[in-house]
Amino acid sequence: MVPAYVRNVELTVSIEAGIPGLRLQSLSKINRIRGWNQPSKYFNLDKPLQVSLRQSTSMDTQFARRVRADFPILQTQMAGKPLAYFDNGATTQKPQPVIDALVKFYSEDNANIHRGVYELSQRATDQYEAARQTIADFIGANDVAECIFVRGTTEAINLVASSWGRANLSQADQVIVSGLEHHSNIVPWQFACEATGAELVVWQPDEQGDLDCRQLEEIITDRTQMVAVQHVSNALGTIHEIDRIVEIAHDNNSLVMVDGAQWVGHNPTDVSALGCDFYTFSGHKLFAPTGIGLLWGRRDLLEKMPPFQGGGDMIETVAFEKTTFAPLPSRFEAGTPNIGGAIALATAADYVTEIGFEQIHAQEQALLAYADKRLSEVPGLRVLGSNRSKEAVISFVMEAPNVAPLDIAMHLSKDGIAIRTGHHCCMPLMGHLQVSGTCRVSMAFYNTADEVDRLVESLIELAADRMEKQSKRSESASGETVGSGDSADQEITFAVASEASPCDAGEKLAEEFLMFDDPESKTELLLELGQELPDDFARLKQLTTAVPGCMSEVYLVGRPMPDAPERFEFAADSNAEVVRGLIAVLSQLFSGQKATEILEFDFAGYLRKIGLDSFVSAQRRSGLEGMVRRIHTLATAITERQNT
Ligand SMILES: Cc1ncc(COP(=O)(O)O)c(C=O)c1O
Repeated sequence: MVPAYVRNVELTVSIEAGIPGLRLQSLSKINRIRGWNQPSKYFNLDKPLQVSLRQSTSMDTQFARRVRADFPILQTQMAGKPLAYFDNGATTQKPQPVIDALVKFYSEDNANIHRGVYELSQRATDQYEAARQTIADFIGANDVAECIFVRGTTEAINLVASSWGRANLSQADQVIVSGLEHHSNIVPWQFACEATGAELVVWQPDEQGDLDCRQLEEIITDRTQMVAVQHVSNALGTIHEIDRIVEIAHDNNSLVMVDGAQWVGHNPTDVSALGCDFYTFSGHKLFAPTGIGLLWGRRDLLEKMPPFQGGGDMIETVAFEKTTFAPLPSRFEAGTPNIGGAIALATAADYVTEIGFEQIHAQEQALLAYADKRLSEVPGLRVLGSNRSKEAVISFVMEAPNVAPLDIAMHLSKDGIAIRTGHHCCMPLMGHLQVSGTCRVSMAFYNTADEVDRLVESLIELAADRMEKQSKRSESASGETVGSGDSADQEITFAVASEASPCDAGEKLAEEFLMFDDPESKTELLLELGQELPDDFARLKQLTTAVPGCMSEVYLVGRPMPDAPERFEFAADSNAEVVRGLIAVLSQLFSGQKATEILEFDFAGYLRKIGLDSFVSAQRRSGLEGMVRRIHTLATAITERQNT
């Protein structure tokens, strides 16, 4: 049966503006039906109010109920709300059979493999090698020796780029990677090219982020030895035409390495039919544990490749004069592997096979269509990427009102909804699409239409809240700037010293933060501090480049104080509310203070003291480290100038 999240009931309520009685009656009915919160907040009641009621199909409820029962974590709560987990592109949740397989291995079968003659070791060895066979069958590999257990996709690509790359590339050669690649399919090839002198060529996507195979035909040359490409874009969800890419590359005598990280958990994989030369994926994106994955490679290629790492298990004989190496696959599995992980990976493969990829794919595609449609109801939300063949991934930004991805993720988190924000380890693609980051909703077969509804309702609430705040801000700004000329001409506001020294300022701020024990209240306090910051974003953006390493956009300028050049003052702003809060903290601590005292201040220790360290490490890309680094660089320049 094909699932469908159709709107089975389409109820249209026309509301005559100015007849409150009618409105109240209609809304209370709607409330009773859906438990809908304050719908009037989101609709312009001058227009007819369209209310759509979605009735779950039996597929939605039965299938979801059945599979969700297998995932203990999906029964838990986040921030006091049922967890709605939409970060499956980063890692998937684990079903009970996979958890049980791990527990069983460590409770009953744990021993090192390939070495012991005792029964336990042989049992562990048998299970490990049986897992290899299961995975070989799962991906359509004809030869089990071509299947090498690795830590994950990253390690597999490093293995191929290092071992095959260094043995086969030279100055005359080229490697092509697409402009959509995850950093793990870029950086290892950069290493290989740097080591061998080969050239790294980028196959750029179009403006939407789509790869056009005609473009590949244009850039591939007889110097191209390797084309390394994702099967599915982790940032946008687009499915790439691997068959065509393989055809073009092979016609050109080039090899193809496919990064299948985002494909394998959602579709059947057949490496033999794909015809590629190397294929890799990570177990944790296939409902298996972290720390285990697979590299599949053609035997004739693998056999000619030098070992990637040296150590136990990968050798045949070791002598100081000469070491010889084990045959495939051990040759590439130096040291004790993740035995339990491999066994659990095989269990995960069996688990999805039993559910059936037809069912999984249909369910996810129905969810994708439903989420696409419902997200279009969120004001100012722009989906990135085209509508070409896609996995159940939606990458979006909120532009009107403008809400930074970091703020969106934090708001959703409070509603129990987990999404990923940032550059998704695809910085070149983000640059190409001219965004600093996106919000990514990546779904799996256990997600439901109800979770999509919660996501959309939470986003609509956020948009409404932002619009209200922005209109209040612009009202008060227009009041303040009467007669003061064009705001673009105004000077940047450098914060004056809040106390006599950074230590004194720190003491004062600490009193406020230490009043709260829980992270939520500390976050609230940060947000409040951020609201007091002057709005300098547009002006600072014109003046300087973004602070690197930030998940949101952060601009910071600093200078010696004109009348006290041993002191440092700065102004900074961000498009993320929470980062504005962190800027306010930095500003109170450091702006207007002596450069020497700023450099002496133990900022990491201070964060620990006020209980913001865990918050900051969880949001490590929030820009704080980057800002502190920039403040230190500028303060150091002042002290150096003072010393000369
Ligand atoms: C397309 C793609 N390639 C590679 C990776 C890296 O995978 P891992 O961190 O499991 O090695 C990811 C992870 O998100 C990915 O999405």
